[in-house]
Order: sequence, then structure tokens, then C-alpha cells
Amino acid sequence: MTNKINNIAVLTSGGDAPGMNAAIRAVVRACAYYNLDCTGVYRGYQGLIEGDFEKLNARSVRNVINRGGTFLKSTRSLDFKTKEGRAKAYENLQKNGVDALIVIGGDGTFTGALYFSQEFNIPVVGIPATIDNDISGTDYTLGYDTALNTVVEAIDKIRDTASSHNRLFLVEVMGRDAGDIALNSGIGAGAEEILIPEEDEGVQRMMDSLEKSKKSGKTSSIIVVAEGEKSGKNIFQLAEFISQTHAEYDIRVSVLGHIQRGGSPSCFDRVLASKLGVGAVEALTDGKSNVMIGIHHQKVVHVSLERAIKEDRELDKELRRVANITSV
Ligand code: F6P
Repeated sequence: MTNKINNIAVLTSGGDAPGMNAAIRAVVRACAYYNLDCTGVYRGYQGLIEGDFEKLNARSVRNVINRGGTFLKSTRSLDFKTKEGRAKAYENLQKNGVDALIVIGGDGTFTGALYFSQEFNIPVVGIPATIDNDISGTDYTLGYDTALNTVVEAIDKIRDTASSHNRLFLVEVMGRDAGDIALNSGIGAGAEEILIPEEDEGVQRMMDSLEKSKKSGKTSSIIVVAEGEKSGKNIFQLAEFISQTHAEYDIRVSVLGHIQRGGSPSCFDRVLASKLGVGAVEALTDGKSNVMIGIHHQKVVHVSLERAIKEDRELDKELRRVANITSV
């Protein structure tokens, strides 16, 4: 281990995700284990610019592994998008004797990190955390598993009403550019149809599915719609569209919204956060920079930040096939 680093700062940025606290804890504890100082930065990049820092020790992160959200708080900082903002941030890191940075967040966070580490001479490592699971080079992002479980539990409850009243429910889940939450929760909750941003044949397939469901004797249906799906209609317009040709359906819309982002992280997310947090500190002490610490086939991997945010992700065709078969 080449141990040139003495003080690592950690921050959370962008949309919060269950497991962020567990990741901060792992970073802080790994720093303690390797006798490094750890500096917590409040409110993400905005806190970096404003010098909102606090020294963290192993005891500062007691009882946080089970908590949703992020105790370091998070922002989507506009100031950090400016060169002046980033220069101020670097100045504050220097003033506080910080010589490396770990950022926990999604693609926006990593884009900022990439600019920052290219402009200034400071190693930066990213930990992927977003319920959307839309980062390349890692099989899972923090918070995704917890969000999936939240969504499935919610749809199970909606199904009770759907089947009691013979209703058609359209359920909107998060995912601006990625259909991972919709596709997996749709399969897990037994949805009749799933509309995702990666496909734009959704509406026609949805109408065909409804016809098939009717013919096969189904009396209620659930359609899961990712917020970023590409039909050009929002979920209320989709409901209206169906009712124009199918007045027989008693349709309801349910938008799950931010309940998907909250709650205590699943065991999977806690373990993942612990592995990634330790991996991030060890990557820095090994002299790495500009990498994301991801997970691939259960192993911790290093992926360039550039690849993490720029490489196109492929739709899992097998999942789509399984969804089609199991919804007949
Ligand atoms: O990126 C995570 C995410 O939850 C998206 O799924 C969603 O579109 C967005 O954040 C919502 O962001 P905000 O909380 O800022 O409205």
C-alpha cells in the first residue's frame, strides 16, 4: 500500500438513496482502520464550496447503517458547475488539509467529480448511489435494491384494491432514463405490462396486452410505467388514452414518487455500501484516482469515471422476455 494520503473527505450529492449512510460509515471506519483522518462534507458540492466540513471518527457514524437518506445531507449544486465554484471548493479542501475526495452519488455527481479532478491535482473516487441503477460498469448502485423492495410492496398493496374492484391501475415508478426499477419491480409484482424509457413501442404493446388480458379472463390489471418512458404522454394522459377506446375499464393512476427514495436500506444495500466504502478508501491509498468503485459478479471493481457516466447501458433483453412470458 502506497500511503501518501492522510486526510480523505467524503460527501453525498444528488438525489439521496438508501445505503448512503452505510457507505459514509464504511468510508469513515476504513479511514480509522488505516489511521487516516476523515473529513465529512455537509450538503454535497455546495458544502465543499462553502467550507461546511466536520472531522469524523469511527464513533461519529454509530447507528447510521440502518438509516435512510444521508446524515451529511445532499444538494444538486449549481455553483459547482462553474469554474469559480470548483476553485473555491479546492481552496477549502487545501485549507482543511484534505488530500483526497470520495463522492457518493449518481451520474451528475460523477460528472462534477471528473471536472474537478481534471482541473485540480486531487485524487477523486466515486461510489455509485442512486435508486435508478443507471450507472455503467457496476451491476448495482446503492439504494436500488431497497427501492425495488419498496415498489414491490406498494404494488402488492395496490393489487389488493385492483382485484377487489376489478380495476386497471397505472403505477408510475421513478427512472428518468433507465427502466431498471420498472422492469424488475414489474416482474416482481406480477404486472401485466411495463413501459420503460429504453423502448418506444410501449403504448401499442400496452393496448395489445390489455386485449390479451381481457381475452384470457383477467379481471384486473397493473401496468408499471417508468417516469421517463417515451410514449410522449404522461401517466394521466395514458389513462385517458386507454379510457377513450376502452370505456369498460375502471382506471386509476398511482404515482409512487419519493417514497421510493426513502426508508431503511435493505441488507443487500448495507453490505454493498460497506464493500464499496472500504473499496473507495483502499483505492485511494493504492494511488488510484478518477475511478468509480463498482460491483461486478460480486467482486469490487474499479471503473473509470468517464466510462461510468458516458458508456451506454444495454436493456436486459432476458428480463423483457421473462416479463412477456410471465404476464400471459
Ligand atoms: O435520480 C434519482 C431520482 O430519484 C430519479 O429517479 C428522479 O427522476 C429524480 O431523482 C427526482 O429528483 P428530485 O428529488 O430532485 O425531484
